[in-house]
Amino acid sequence: MQDAIQSFDIRDWKPNLTAAETEKVALNLEQGAVIHLPTLGFSMTNDEQKFYSPSWLNGQRKNISLEGLNVRGATGSINDLTQMASMITRYAHQATQLIITLFPNYALYLNTARTSYRPNMVGAVAARSWKKDDSRLHVDAFPSRPNHGERILRVFTNVNPENVSRVWRVGEAFEQAAQHFLPNIKPPVPFSASLLSAIGITKRKRSEYDHIMLHLHDHMKADLDYQKNTQQQAVNFAPGSTWICFSDQVLHAAMSGQYMFEQTFHLPIAGQYHSEFSPLHVLEKLQKRQLVKR
Ligand code: SIN
Ligand code: FE
Repeated sequence: MQDAIQSFDIRDWKPNLTAAETEKVALNLEQGAVIHLPTLGFSMTNDEQKFYSPSWLNGQRKNISLEGLNVRGATGSINDLTQMASMITRYAHQATQLIITLFPNYALYLNTARTSYRPNMVGAVAARSWKKDDSRLHVDAFPSRPNHGERILRVFTNVNPENVSRVWRVGEAFEQAAQHFLPNIKPPVPFSASLLSAIGITKRKRSEYDHIMLHLHDHMKADLDYQKNTQQQAVNFAPGSTWICFSDQVLHAAMSGQYMFEQTFHLPIAGQYHSEFSPLHVLEKLQKRQLVKR
């Protein structure tokens, strides 16, 4: 694989790039690199400096997030929460502008999902189980939200005011990891997908793709030998930097850091430049059959 981290000198949330440049960034991203923009930061106003504290978390969620116009996971006066919502919305707009400027082909397909503000120190609250422990290498896959191959695209920005980097580990290429774990992933129990969706555990029916992605997530986190010995690198994302990746494809683990914004998007693979690198197509190639209904 090419280097798992690809840096670009982009200083604007609406950068001016040539078609050849966007093509290059898109190819790197879709091949599974983290696109690192070391000189793209998010500014918090003087008034917003007060949000530099984990005490804004209400204790019920790991992060503060914006869903539609509602702030979730935060505690404070109506005025403070309104101000917080406007700060998070500003991040959401800038992250969206960045993605549609860098990857114009995505614009027609992109679904904007949750925006989060993460004032907690990584590891400050122990994960409730190893499955939720994001300091273990994993690809994102969520039990209640079947994707049917749709991509999870994320933008992250470190806003730490005290020069503390966010440190990740980034693992081997998706295809290698899939080859490593697939032999131990058993097919779904017949009718389990219908049952899970009928009783409301999943938002829609789990496809075989979702079944494999969830097991890939779980097997990887459970395998301490793999966690320790697989090929990986530590990456420091300094304050004032932004990074973008398909988190369903990049093996990642959050090791340390505090104060970050994050924007999630969902992208149907029809919107990709090179969908052959998508986890769905890679897994279908390795399994030699279709994993979602078409
Ligand atoms: C994750 O997506 O697993 C965590 C990312 C982070 O908090 O830095
Ligand atoms: Fe993750």
